[in-house]
Amino acid sequence: MFALALAACLCLCVHSLPPDKVNANHIIRTRSIDLTDAQLLKTESRLKLGLYPDAYLLDIEPYLEDGVFKGYLRINVTFGDSLDEITLHSASNLNILRTEVTVPSASDPMGYETIPIAQVVKDLRKPLLSIQLEKAIPSKTTAWINIMYNGSMDVSNSYGIFKRTYTEKEEERIVVAAHLRPNFARRLFPCFDQPFYKAPLQLTIVRPRNMVALSNTEVVKTENITGEPGAVRDHFQVTPLMSTFSFGFVIADLEQLPDARIYNDKHGNSITIRVWARPEYLQALEGLYEKLLWVLGEAADVWEMQLPLSKLDIVALPNYQGVKPADSWGLIMFKESDLSNKGYLQLAQEIMYQWCGALVSPFWWSDAYINKALVNYLAAEITFKINNGSEMEGKWPMTVLYSIYYEFSKRFPHSRITGMKQETASTKIELIFRMLNFTLGEATFKKGMRAFIKATKFKGFSNHDIWHALTDSAIADGKLPHNYKIQNIADSWIDKDRVPLVTAERNYDNNTVTLTQKLYLRERPHDVHDAELQTWWGAHSAGEG
Ligand SMILES: *[C@@H]1O[C@H](CO)[C@@H](O)[C@H](O)[C@H]1NC(C)=O
Ligand SMILES: *[C@@H]1O[C@H](CO)[C@@H](O)[C@H](O)[C@H]1NC(C)=O
Ligand SMILES: *[C@@H]1O[C@H](CO)[C@@H](O)[C@H](O)[C@H]1NC(C)=O
Ligand SMILES: *[C@@H]1O[C@H](CO)[C@@H](O)[C@H](O)[C@H]1NC(C)=O
Ligand SMILES: *[C@@H]1O[C@H](CO)[C@@H](O)[C@H](O)[C@H]1NC(C)=O
Ligand SMILES: *[C@@H]1O[C@H](CO)[C@@H](O)[C@H](O)[C@H]1NC(C)=O
Repeated sequence: MFALALAACLCLCVHSLPPDKVNANHIIRTRSIDLTDAQLLKTESRLKLGLYPDAYLLDIEPYLEDGVFKGYLRINVTFGDSLDEITLHSASNLNILRTEVTVPSASDPMGYETIPIAQVVKDLRKPLLSIQLEKAIPSKTTAWINIMYNGSMDVSNSYGIFKRTYTEKEEERIVVAAHLRPNFARRLFPCFDQPFYKAPLQLTIVRPRNMVALSNTEVVKTENITGEPGAVRDHFQVTPLMSTFSFGFVIADLEQLPDARIYNDKHGNSITIRVWARPEYLQALEGLYEKLLWVLGEAADVWEMQLPLSKLDIVALPNYQGVKPADSWGLIMFKESDLSNKGYLQLAQEIMYQWCGALVSPFWWSDAYINKALVNYLAAEITFKINNGSEMEGKWPMTVLYSIYYEFSKRFPHSRITGMKQETASTKIELIFRMLNFTLGEATFKKGMRAFIKATKFKGFSNHDIWHALTDSAIADGKLPHNYKIQNIADSWIDKDRVPLVTAERNYDNNTVTLTQKLYLRERPHDVHDAELQTWWGAHSAGEG
């Protein structure tokens, strides 16, 4: 019975709407392709294990007009192994000016010892920086890496550290911001730019006195700079443990939408929400606080988990060109028009990422697609709860389902656009979550999700963590026999870029239903090799009659 229900949710009823009649191109075009990056990142060279960041202390001095910046960085690290080389991610736009490695002094408990550096080598082919030491640092040592560097901002794209300009009141204005997903933190500072390294970061940043600087946390102190009357330095509170890509900031001529709110809930959250935009755009954002409070409340109820944030800044960023909002933890920057529209879906997605994506994050890039799928599914659910899914014109999940069905029933799926493959994979998993919600029941599904986030908070997760948590909650609630695993069920859908056609035959004489499954193909089915061998998990294939 379990297999039946599973199949019934993802399979399309072929009789009601032949997929050939669906204009798949139209449907697909409205969904942005942003997972190609995740695909490329799977093959990215990893940093060597054996060295771990404990904390980052970062001072950034941007020169807005020139599009360059200076950085002063200290990383507290712990050696897990004895090493005579320190490797960090560092992109080609950074110039390392001075490097120093110190360890606690053996003789003086308050003192430091500087470790002589043989050479600092920038890899020309890879975004890596290697600090080669004259002698090895033994394992279990805590050390400090100090780096002085400078770099250039990106002026043509909206990622890494970037600069954009726009005109307001006939004057050219500058925006400088950092959007570091998925692996652009290395364009801002040398770091351990892999999602599973989590460390707190403490930022100070120099800004023009008349502009605003926002980052992940609250400003705790603003100080004048001697000899620079036009500039000040903001000191931000130290962040929670987080991946480098969750870091972000913005410096711009922003003004706050009046009447900032404090979001409080029974899960322990107390978060000041502030909306920012250029003065001329503020009016377009009226009513946004109410929307944000609503979405935050719904999202927090899904997770029942407190965010370690005391504030959330939402910014309408002038002339932002990114495909997706620049989302960091506690600071989300949207394209202006995305923030003034009437919908809830994108807000819900971005706010969901504050839990699933920042509080917990994928262990490695290859797990990013499942993070995205889970966020999209849960955001769709919230959106339905808030406005009945009216902004999806009542079409979710049918819109995404049709395009998947259309693609997967071709003789050669994804033969035209390879970039679409990752996008479809994520959409498919979104629907697997939906299927599990229906088969296990909402209560069991949510219980699994809550156990998952509780077990992996401040850590990296892999897709196994999600399936394990769901298996445990399903077995505990009597929704799944002990010898079954959600992972096996999910894998049978994830592994294949195909969908089954399930036929149900009722027999009224003995009140039974016979179910059969076969690969659904809409063009030249006889040409597809091994078609009859492709089946999906069912109680039968798991060994029961
Ligand atoms: C990093 O090292 C500095 C210098 O010893 C120390 O004051 C600071 O507490 C350390 N931070 C963390 C988070 O370990
Ligand atoms: C970085 O500093 C070096 C040495 O002072 C200088 O030659 C270079 O122009 C600077 N680059 C940037 C982008 O500021
Ligand atoms: C910082 O500079 C401003 C403007 O020059 C001045 O009004 C303010 O008192 C100064 N603050 C401190 C702490 O010196
Ligand atoms: C929600 O949408 C469905 C399908 O479009 C419609 O039948 C239903 O009446 C709507 N409910 C509300 C509360 O608007
Ligand atoms: C999840 O399942 C419940 C039934 O258990 C259903 O009412 C709800 O609409 C489902 N949610 C989604 C987003 O499909
Ligand atoms: C019910 O009847 C159908 C058709 O005669 C038969 O194929 C099937 O095995 C029967 N099922 C049971 C459980 O007896």
